[in-house]
Amino acid sequence: MTQTRYDKPAGSHAPRPVALILGASSGIGREFARRYAREGFDVILVARSRDALAELALEISETHTVEAQVRVADLSRRDDVSSIAAVIDSLPRLDHMVFSAGSAPEGDLTRSDPVSLRSMVDLNITALTLLGRAAVIRMRRSGRGTIINIASVAGYQPTPYLAAYGASKSYVRTFSEALYEENRRHGVRVIAVSPGDTDTPMNPGAARGKRQPEDVVDTAWRALSGRAPAVIDGARNRALAGLARLLPTRATLLIAERMFRSQA
Ligand SMILES: NC(=O)c1ccc[n+]([C@@H]2O[C@H](COP(=O)([O-])OP(=O)(O)OC[C@H]3O[C@@H](n4cnc5c(N)ncnc54)[C@H](OP(=O)(O)O)[C@@H]3O)[C@@H](O)[C@H]2O)c1
Repeated sequence: MTQTRYDKPAGSHAPRPVALILGASSGIGREFARRYAREGFDVILVARSRDALAELALEISETHTVEAQVRVADLSRRDDVSSIAAVIDSLPRLDHMVFSAGSAPEGDLTRSDPVSLRSMVDLNITALTLLGRAAVIRMRRSGRGTIINIASVAGYQPTPYLAAYGASKSYVRTFSEALYEENRRHGVRVIAVSPGDTDTPMNPGAARGKRQPEDVVDTAWRALSGRAPAVIDGARNRALAGLARLLPTRATLLIAERMFRSQA
């Protein structure tokens, strides 16, 4: 893991809130970073793509009076997760953390690459769990903080051809909901945010009802003023997830199999 700091503007000494964005180099995470900077947070940007992070940090520090720090890390790797956990522990201040890093290899499980599958579980589940733990410990020390974990509507039902990804996102949601309750009395707010189809490099191309990364960030931001442990972005996605919960599992599976067959 390496670090680059985009310097605080000269003459600025007021302590600002700090947001750590994991998976900040593109898509939803990048929009979270822009939103936090606009709201006056210093940001720490984490992902593997050094150039994309550096470009974003420059954009942020030129547009807003905040500091942007870059930390290049592969969160599917044990050592890099430990390094970021150590950063979290040593930060003088940590107000918000967003875990948006994620990967979604798949199709029919027999054709998916075992290395990519392992890396997805290590990232979507293991890194999110261990860095969530580190953030909760750090935030309890100051008696406040917010953790936003990006799940998915695919985590509200079993999803053929995205079986492991969907299951990893169910984990993200129920893990976050449990942490919400564990941490309320410690002043730490945890929330799972579930996007549906959203226009990002992970999910390119036009589709009916597709949302933009900014929509997901707006949904998360609004939800923080409420008390929900989990939120779904977009009315259509909320309706689909609600339907999946009402129907018998067998019916949900048949519908989902047809919807995702093209990805087999
Ligand atoms: N787009 C959708 O339709 C959709 C729907 C539901 C849920 N989601 C979830 O939303 C989150 C954000 O995805 P997105 O749509 O914004 O896709 P994206 O643009 O591909 O962003 C994924 C982010 O994760 C980072 N990342 C991937 N592997 C990493 C690794 N090993 N270590 C560190 N960072 C890593 C990527 O950065 P580097 O490649 O630079 O490392 C990138 O910043 C994901 O958790 C995804 O599952 C997306």
